[in-house]
Amino acid sequence: MKAAVLHPGGRLELSEVPAPSPTAGEILVRVAACGICHTDLHYLDHGVKTFKSPVILGHEVSGTVALLGSGVTRFREGDRVLLPAVFTCGTCRLCRTGRENICEQMKMLGNHVDGAYAEYVMAPAKDAFSLPPEIPLAEACLIGDAMSTPYHAVKHRAQVRMGETVAIFGCGGVGINAVQFAALAGAHVIAVDIDDRKLELARQFGARDVLNARSVDRVDKELKKRTGGGLDAVLEVIGKPETIRIAYESLRPGGRLCQVGYTAEPVTLAFSKMMFYELQVVGSLGCRPSDYPELIELVRTRRAQLEPLVTGRYSLDRITEGFDTLRRGEGIRGIVVMNQPR
Ligand code: APR
Ligand code: ZN
Repeated sequence: MKAAVLHPGGRLELSEVPAPSPTAGEILVRVAACGICHTDLHYLDHGVKTFKSPVILGHEVSGTVALLGSGVTRFREGDRVLLPAVFTCGTCRLCRTGRENICEQMKMLGNHVDGAYAEYVMAPAKDAFSLPPEIPLAEACLIGDAMSTPYHAVKHRAQVRMGETVAIFGCGGVGINAVQFAALAGAHVIAVDIDDRKLELARQFGARDVLNARSVDRVDKELKKRTGGGLDAVLEVIGKPETIRIAYESLRPGGRLCQVGYTAEPVTLAFSKMMFYELQVVGSLGCRPSDYPELIELVRTRRAQLEPLVTGRYSLDRITEGFDTLRRGEGIRGIVVMNQPR
């Protein structure tokens, strides 16, 4: 089968590789589409290493079941499925206490195991989710990370509640969904970005107010002015020390910062304020299996928008065009369409 393989040093090569075959408890998925994510750029451009190397990249996957390993009874051949970006062990202490998203033995597609910029991908049957017929198969791949990560962040980590005022810093593929879920939760959402096109999209996804960070001297002061004293919660979905610090400084007393963006750099925050104002700082990673049925239902009933998130479609041969578009910060999410959905 054809696949995009990442080699040591960040070199991506389109190659012909053997199609895998499922062992007990596994399914082979015929990939319909795989989303192009910022995380891939960490491997390609910033020297972040994958656990398996060489590895087939790609972790936002939808498709149909092509083959069943022995013992799999949940699915039949041809079933439409969504794969989560991360498979969990189900037995470690964190899995058993409902925190599967930080499983001690997690296996991420396109990182620990071969991913889905390929005609076929393998997955444990226990981790896959059925997709209802109302959800278009190719677009559905974005549920597996671009939607599920901010869903968990908004609902379980930032715990956004009705009537609160919440800022989302960064309205890219992940942040725009934080905007739509915070709005859906009933918050007054202020979107912050440096790109007016992203801010316009944020309005379409439910932001009531927007701020171009380049249009003011002090983003924290401007937000405090607009909110009469600061935000109940801020989600940082960029991953830069400077924007993390500004996000923290924009909180009202008692407010909470939820960190979704990734940075390898240390960040300096004034802990005196944390103590005096009882501020909270929480991290957020991926989502839990139990979030998927709710999220799929939100998409099925069109309370959450899916199709407008897809702003580019690429064949596997043109995958580097998709990465270039992401590097230029254009659009929301590109997808690699592998096989025409049946
Ligand atoms: N202030 C405000 N917005 C900014 C700034 C800044 N200083 N710098 C960048 N941005 C905006 C960009 O304009 C873009 O809209 O942040 C957004 C980042 O979006 P993407 O590049 O599409 O990244 P995304 O896939 O959404 O991921 C964001 O979350 O999961 C992590 O690893 C991921 O760290 C990354 C972050
Ligand atoms: Zn586990």
